[in-house]
Amino acid sequence: MAGVALPRVLSGIQPTAGSFHLGNYLGALRQWVALQETAQAFYCIVDQHAITLDWDPAELRHDTLASAAQLLALGVDPARSTLFVQSHVPEHVQLSWVLECIARFGEASRMTQFKDKSQREGAAGSSVGLFTYPVLMAADILVYRADQVPVGDDQRQHLELTRDLATRFNGRFGDTFPLPEALIPEGAARIMDLQSPDRKMSKSLPPAGCVFLLDDPKVTAKKIRSAVTDTGREVVADPVHKPGVTNLLTIHGALSGTPVAELEERFAGRGYGDLKKELAAVVADFVTPIRQRTQELLDDPAELQRILADGAARARQVAGRTVADVSDKVGFLPPAGARA
Ligand code: TRP
Repeated sequence: MAGVALPRVLSGIQPTAGSFHLGNYLGALRQWVALQETAQAFYCIVDQHAITLDWDPAELRHDTLASAAQLLALGVDPARSTLFVQSHVPEHVQLSWVLECIARFGEASRMTQFKDKSQREGAAGSSVGLFTYPVLMAADILVYRADQVPVGDDQRQHLELTRDLATRFNGRFGDTFPLPEALIPEGAARIMDLQSPDRKMSKSLPPAGCVFLLDDPKVTAKKIRSAVTDTGREVVADPVHKPGVTNLLTIHGALSGTPVAELEERFAGRGYGDLKKELAAVVADFVTPIRQRTQELLDDPAELQRILADGAARARQVAGRTVADVSDKVGFLPPAGARA
């Protein structure tokens, strides 16, 4: 590999109350772990995005640390990747301001996630931060001059905006940012809610349909047992007529590494109950070491914070160079005494 620069990857995830769920893992985080082999990865817990909707300060602090512990337990390796907390790297917000002045009100107004989320509070109750959320996300990416961004399908439009802003900046101020590509995992990893298999697994739906990584496997087994299945008895993947069973097969296949066709064969002539029982065991095998490792990490918060401080220091070296370059290009007077 000598002499060949690895592609640079950046991704972010919001700190989550309680724990990440199987949809987060199979939809995105599994890819984060895999990319460490082939890319120079920056992974960021986006606590500043987390305050665009109402929040509780003590919970945010706790959730940020607990998210870091889970990412490490899932296999993010601080020796190979740069893992850090967004607010520890002020360069994101510095670049974000410049990008806000490059972005147009109209294009930000077209973001569908903003339209969805702002509906809850209405225009009068929504924060300006919620409106500029996608611009901060663009800054997260561009401040590292990232080539690739592993994200879920719902972030496609934000990536397009990021590319548009990068193109506009480059056009006006000279080549500065590579245009980042979205890395969206193949359909296999689309995990649906156990109770409403027509909807993506999400912690904003009732908990019975969501498998949290830190849940006791007994609780998870119960959720799987009560998962909505479909009419008929055959265990076959058919997303249109059997979305519930298909989802269970997808999860099994993704965690056990068994092709779904092989699972269909194995469960031929057996009922949904057998599939659910086996799936519960597969999930328990997967989460047990992760739960244990997360707990160990949380038992030593000083060490966790040391890992995050080290990540932030490394991130700032890269982000600082970009902000210096951008500041110069847009005409900010350098503070006297600053290194050229
Ligand atoms: N908006 C992303 C999400 O909800 C999280 C995020 C923030 C992100 N900044 C990012 C993802 C930068 C990728 C790159 O999933």
